[in-house]
Amino acid sequence: MAKRGNSIIKGIEIDEVIKLLNRAYADEWLAYYQYYIEEKVVTGIMSKSAVTELAEHAADELRHADMVANRIMQLGGTPLLNPKDWFTHTNCGYEEPKNFDVLAILDDAIKGEQCAISTYSNIAEITRDKDIVTYDIVSQILADEVEHEEDLQALYDDINDFVDQVKSTIKG
Ligand SMILES: [Fe+2]
Ligand SMILES: [Fe+2]
Repeated sequence: MAKRGNSIIKGIEIDEVIKLLNRAYADEWLAYYQYYIEEKVVTGIMSKSAVTELAEHAADELRHADMVANRIMQLGGTPLLNPKDWFTHTNCGYEEPKNFDVLAILDDAIKGEQCAISTYSNIAEITRDKDIVTYDIVSQILADEVEHEEDLQALYDDINDFVDQVKSTIKG
């Protein structure tokens, strides 16, 4: 635990920050696994480009889990020790892929990113001017999640346009 480092936290209970971070930590592991498994099972038109994107996101979510765990430790907390706790602490839940088609997978992933954006902007709001270090870390993660949403949406739109073109060619 960083004693002097933690003494600069003002106007918010450290335990409260640890709780918020542990919930985000659960989200990151579930997001990591969701991308990991989606990358394996995804099929359909242009699914190769989706595979590359999903693999990159998996790596990012795992890196986020690491950033959050390190901050929890600095604050004197303990990151969730049992994967069972991920399900009781998560904000965004876990969306088991049921339809492996690339557009369905991307749609699920976009929803997940939108939830992550809400979660981190909420933590940023709460820690702003109170816990500068946590604020900085969650802001960095938030910027990644915004980029994730944008990349997935761009890919979704590309594939959707391509499918529409193919359909109109067949009809024509
Ligand atoms: Fe993340
Ligand atoms: Fe993400």
